[in-house]
Amino acid sequence: MAAPFTVLIMAAGQGTRMRSDVPKVLHRIAGKPLVEWVVDAAREAGAARVVAVVRPGDGVAEGLPDGVEVAEQREGEGTGAAVLAAREAVLGAGSSGAAGPGARAGDGPVVVLSGDHPLVTSEQIEGLLREHEARGALATLLTTDRLDPTGYGRVVRDSDGTVDRIYETKYPEGLSEEELAVPEINLGAYAFDSNTLFDALDRVELERGERYLTGVVPLVRADGRTVAAHMTADADAALGVNDRAGLMDAEAAAQRRLIERHARAGVTFLQPGTTRVEAGVTIGHDSVIGPGTVLEGDTSVGEGCELGPHTTARDATIHDGAVVAHSFVLGAEIGPDAQVGPFAYLRPGTILREGAKVGAFVEVKNSDIGAGAKVPHLSYIGDADVGEASNLGASTITANYDGRKKHRTKLGKSVKTGVHTSLVAPLDVGDRAYTGAGSTITSDVPEGALGIAREKQKNVEGYADRVEEDSQK
Ligand code: UD1
Ligand code: CA
Repeated sequence: MAAPFTVLIMAAGQGTRMRSDVPKVLHRIAGKPLVEWVVDAAREAGAARVVAVVRPGDGVAEGLPDGVEVAEQREGEGTGAAVLAAREAVLGAGSSGAAGPGARAGDGPVVVLSGDHPLVTSEQIEGLLREHEARGALATLLTTDRLDPTGYGRVVRDSDGTVDRIYETKYPEGLSEEELAVPEINLGAYAFDSNTLFDALDRVELERGERYLTGVVPLVRADGRTVAAHMTADADAALGVNDRAGLMDAEAAAQRRLIERHARAGVTFLQPGTTRVEAGVTIGHDSVIGPGTVLEGDTSVGEGCELGPHTTARDATIHDGAVVAHSFVLGAEIGPDAQVGPFAYLRPGTILREGAKVGAFVEVKNSDIGAGAKVPHLSYIGDADVGEASNLGASTITANYDGRKKHRTKLGKSVKTGVHTSLVAPLDVGDRAYTGAGSTITSDVPEGALGIAREKQKNVEGYADRVEEDSQK
């Protein structure tokens, strides 16, 4: 068993280049705030505690997932200042100032991550800790050589593979060509021995007004202790979000990752590049997701479903075998083997029972559509209960709103409404009842009856002849 470890997330960056009223780390990719991706990776890797460093009053604390502890960066600039702000949170009370005796509560390593690098993985955190322990290191960096290294901190190794030195290249003036050619970069994720980290940070000198976390490395080396590095081939962890362009890149990488994960679990995507799946979505195997389909929020999709092309579902529950084409589904539940669309709009509170059908240009809101019932064409069904096996004629409309209040319409089992039926709620239509085409039904229809409410037809004989005679006058 590995020792319990704390994860510290630096989330106090200004994020001014986002040009946003929302703090940077609360911007979302795949529907989930950047910092929450990092928290999830930390927890997946088994972090005993997660501490986030924020600026006082910046709103980040309010946007953190439950159980994340907060430390406020009240002074200083730079990644080192961010970590120092969490000294008490990591080591325990009584540890402010230089660590003295009794300030040794923070045993076990601390992993430091950036809140704006959402795609760091639990595997990378585990790899970092493995290397840290195997080398008996006091500091270990996550690195890669799979990226254009321009602007990143560079890592130079010793012959034994441990880290000799690290230097920043954000301001390349004064660096040699050789130094700028070093391909291994610091991804900004670290494991440290907790006490060593804070002791050393106190001694790191300011550069350009900032205290660099990486300034710890030479101090550890000067003490003759080991700095290690864990190299990863997955460079998505390097995707730091600094502006909206970076946010788009991270979104694209998150989509690739999520869709690939669903695909490996047995889901077919007919045109993945056109599909968007948010992080909280679940999809059962043998479901087929067509082009242009967007699955958001808490949506769950069962097994063997066919969604799309061009279906959007947000906070929807879609059961096994359902088919939803060219439709918009918001907070609705679609039963097993139900069929929806094309061009249907299902709104919150709607439930379609097993095998129900909602067809073209139909809107359903806050209604229960019974098993096998059909609303095939051009209808608005709001605040209604439709019994099983009922069939609503084209353009059946519930008049659920009297201008002040909503009222419910109840249709029993095996009801058949004629085309262009208006159902003026509150209304009760019994089992096996019918309505005549074109009826405006304002009072209850008993079980098995035909409700018909329209002007009786009369035919005017010889009408066409009269029109012709008139026009010749
Ligand atoms: C850092 C590393 C660099 C590495 C790169 C990887 C240092 C000195 N350099 O550079 O070696 O290659 O990441 O992307 O660490 N933050 C705070 N408070 C602050 C300043 C920053 O919380 O006062 C947070 C930021 O929100 C961000 C993280 O720390 O999440 C990294 O800071 P940033 O300034 O972006 O560091 P880089 O210059 O990118
Ligand atoms: Ca950065």
